Amino acid sequence: MKNIAVFCSGFGSNLQAIIDAVKKGKIGAKLRLVVSDNPACFALKRAKKAGIQTLVLEAKNFPTREAYDKEIIKELKKEKIDLIVLAGFMRLLSTHFVRAYKNRIINIHPALLPSFKGTHGIEDAFEYGVKVTGASVHFVDEKLDHGPIILQKAIEISEKDTLKSLEKKMHKAEHEIYPKAIQLIAQNKIKITGRKVKIET
Ligand code: GRF
Repeated sequence: MKNIAVFCSGFGSNLQAIIDAVKKGKIGAKLRLVVSDNPACFALKRAKKAGIQTLVLEAKNFPTREAYDKEIIKELKKEKIDLIVLAGFMRLLSTHFVRAYKNRIINIHPALLPSFKGTHGIEDAFEYGVKVTGASVHFVDEKLDHGPIILQKAIEISEKDTLKSLEKKMHKAEHEIYPKAIQLIAQNKIKITGRKVKIET
């Protein structure tokens, strides 16, 4: 059984999807810790409601990114965390962190990578006028939104779509594929070779 930590900074709808999936037995792992850099975020309320231990570290209390990340690593070791799930965590992790947890950190991005990297994936795709966008779950490496891709789900953008309606579709797709990807990892069904992720069936 894997121990999971979910990192959030905001609304936490992906965290909620993961909490629900664990509760329903759709993810065979233990959600041990929720980490946040934002003490006011709604994600923390969700964690507390679900009875999950939380760790809040504000960047302003640490002199460097490394110092911040070292403190987190200490806590992750204490809780014997095997998998780190980034779900709207608005801080970049240091190289030190990424290396310490190589192939054990995953992220969800609201676009079909490698398109529309960065913090405005939904809006950027919408404004660009693409007809298809989607959600991507990927391993985290040293480069932004770059590591091997685990799952993607495509979403068509129709002429009737607004940014709001697209956001809604995106979150639905995210809440579907993120728990799925976590379960594949929990079941050891994923093999990484270079950039390629092979899923055992
Ligand atoms: C999601 O759209 C995710 O793709 C991006 O940040 C957003 C987080 O949303 N990385 P929520 O906090 O899970 O509702």
